[in-house]
Amino acid sequence: MWTSTCLPSTLTWCTLSCSRVTLNTSGVLIEDLQEAIEAQEDGGPSPRTHSYTKYNTWDKVHSWTASIASSNPSLISKQVIGNTYEGRPMTLLKLGKKSSSSKPAIFMDCGIHAREWISPAFCQWFVKEALSTYGSDSQMTSLLNEMDVYVLPVFNIDGYDYTHKSNRMWRKTRSRKSGSSCTGADPNRNWNAGWCSMGASSNPCSDTFCGYSPESEIEVKNVADFIRRNKSAIKAYLTVHSYSQLLLFPYSYTYELAADHSELMKVAEGASSALRSLYGTRYTSGPGATTIYPAAGGSDDWAYDLGVKYSYTFELRDTGRYGFLLPESQIKPTCEETMLAVKYIAAYVQKNLY
Ligand code: ARG
Ligand code: ZN
Repeated sequence: MWTSTCLPSTLTWCTLSCSRVTLNTSGVLIEDLQEAIEAQEDGGPSPRTHSYTKYNTWDKVHSWTASIASSNPSLISKQVIGNTYEGRPMTLLKLGKKSSSSKPAIFMDCGIHAREWISPAFCQWFVKEALSTYGSDSQMTSLLNEMDVYVLPVFNIDGYDYTHKSNRMWRKTRSRKSGSSCTGADPNRNWNAGWCSMGASSNPCSDTFCGYSPESEIEVKNVADFIRRNKSAIKAYLTVHSYSQLLLFPYSYTYELAADHSELMKVAEGASSALRSLYGTRYTSGPGATTIYPAAGGSDDWAYDLGVKYSYTFELRDTGRYGFLLPESQIKPTCEETMLAVKYIAAYVQKNLY
């Protein structure tokens, strides 16, 4: 049983700092974490193979990546953008009809934070849906004809693996530095955007440790290098987290409004209402700093300041009943509704390309 020494005053605060405490809808703590962890696996017995309606281990995601790419060579290619701290390959999928000329692109990553398991589940779902609806869904067909969508299914692979094998509530990377007994930095505080100025910690033992310098985390550097290299093609940056049901956009490192605030807000509200139309799930839209909390060094702010105008952070289901331990029975509805929001943003970006 967990004692309430870090009883959060708000749910959003809990998405960040309360790794050992979750609230249910009535605000009562889930006292037996182990029981809650087991309850998330309500989708039946674990299959040996990959499943879109289960939380797949890294090994399963990895082999799925290889097989989905090789079975759809006309629509998917893959490329390793670097290795993680522990040496795992970061494989980026590129979805889109092959073209002789270079196409504008959308970049989406999942699993920056290790314990947010619904996030990698969504990236896998997105890839499946893109492939299975290309040719029948007019929007998906036109999107993949005109644009490429880069998908990084698990950003923080070492951390994700660690949440499956050792500590379900781990958030950070798994890097070590001599002189510190603490492991990892927060990969969403390590980007060069107001780095470590607010809402981040310089204590290596903190869950929001910003790292020893911007891009000190190799996973962040690998993705930042890729986006810098493809900066002229990348028109939108989407990053998927959980939980809180929010659609956030810059800024989080300052309270100042982004130059494109009104347009970013309009698109976010359109995406949120598309999402809500399926199961009634309510999302709140707004700039990170005022909607969740100020937190510098995030990927969304970094991409925006680089020039990627449509930069969004999703915080998927739920609002705290299960938190990071979202039951597997919610993977399908969560992914279905999130598809509508992502497709709304993609359609807007595509419409405004030229
Ligand atoms: N829950 C996310 C985090 O703490 C929110 C990210 C919002 N964006 C940001 N740049 N802080 O990382
Ligand atoms: Zn997160």
